[in-house]
Amino acid sequence: MPRPYQPSLLRILHGAVAVLVPAAWISGLIVYSLHDGRWGRLPWHPGGDWIDIHGSLGVLLWPLAIAFGLYALSLGRARLRRPENAAALLGLALAVGSGKLMSEDWLRQGELDQAVYGIHLLAWLLIGAAVLWHVSGVLGRGGLPLARSMASLQARPNDRPRHWPGQIARCFRRSG
Ligand code: HEM
Ligand code: HEM
Repeated sequence: MPRPYQPSLLRILHGAVAVLVPAAWISGLIVYSLHDGRWGRLPWHPGGDWIDIHGSLGVLLWPLAIAFGLYALSLGRARLRRPENAAALLGLALAVGSGKLMSEDWLRQGELDQAVYGIHLLAWLLIGAAVLWHVSGVLGRGGLPLARSMASLQARPNDRPRHWPGQIARCFRRSG
C-alpha cells in the first residue's frame, strides 16, 4: 500500500482543530466540575479562572473551526462520505455554535437551566463520542500510518502554501 498523504492545507487546519478541541474539552470538564457538578465533581481542581481560560480557547477555536469546516465541505467533501468524519464535523459545529451563544455569566450566577447551556453540554458529550469513533475509524482503516499521515510535517514540492490558492480555485472550477 502506498504511504498515505494528506494535503498540507488540510493538515494545518485539522491539526489546529485537533489540538484545540481536546483542550476545550478538558477545560470544559473543569468548568463543569467547578460551577455545575450535578452529576459529579473532579476530586481536585487546578487553580485559575477556568471560565476565562475555556472562553479564550473557544475564541481561538471558532475561527479555525469555520475555516476547517469550509475546507471539509469543499476540498474535503469526498472524505465526509465516511460517517465517522461527518460526525466529528457535526459535533464540532454544535459545540462551537452553542459555545458562541453562551454567556460567561450564566454559570457564575448559577443559571444552570439555560437552554443554550443544555445544548452546549450535550455537544460536549457528542463531540467526545464522535472523535473517539473518528479516531478508531482512522486506526481501523489505515492503522498508525494513516493516523501519522495527518501529523506529518513533510509536504510534497507541489503542495506548499503558495499552491493553496490554486487548489481552492481548482476545486471551485470543478464543482462550478
Ligand atoms: C469540546 C467541548 C467544548 C467546545 C469545543 C467548546 C467551545 C466553546 C466555544 C467556541 C465558546 C465560545 C467562546 C467565545 O467566543 O466567547 C465556548 C464558551 C463557553 N463554554 Fe464551551 N466548549 C466545550 C465544552 C464546554 C463545557 C463542558 C463547559 C462547562 C460545563 C463549557 C462552558 C462554556 C462557558 C461557560 C462558555 C462561555 C465562556 C465565555 O464566553 O467566556 N464548554 N465554548
Ligand atoms: C479532535 C477533533 C477532531 C476533529 C473535529 C476531526 C475532524 C475530521 C474531519 C471533519 C475530517 C475529514 C476532513 C475532510 O473532509 O477533508 C478528518 C479527517 C481525518 N482525521 Fe480527524 N478530527 C479530529 C481528530 C483527529 C485525530 C486525533 C486524528 C489522529 C488519529 C485524526 C486523524 C484524521 C485522519 C487520518 C483523517 C483523514 C481520514 C480520511 O482520509 O478519511 N483526526 N478529521
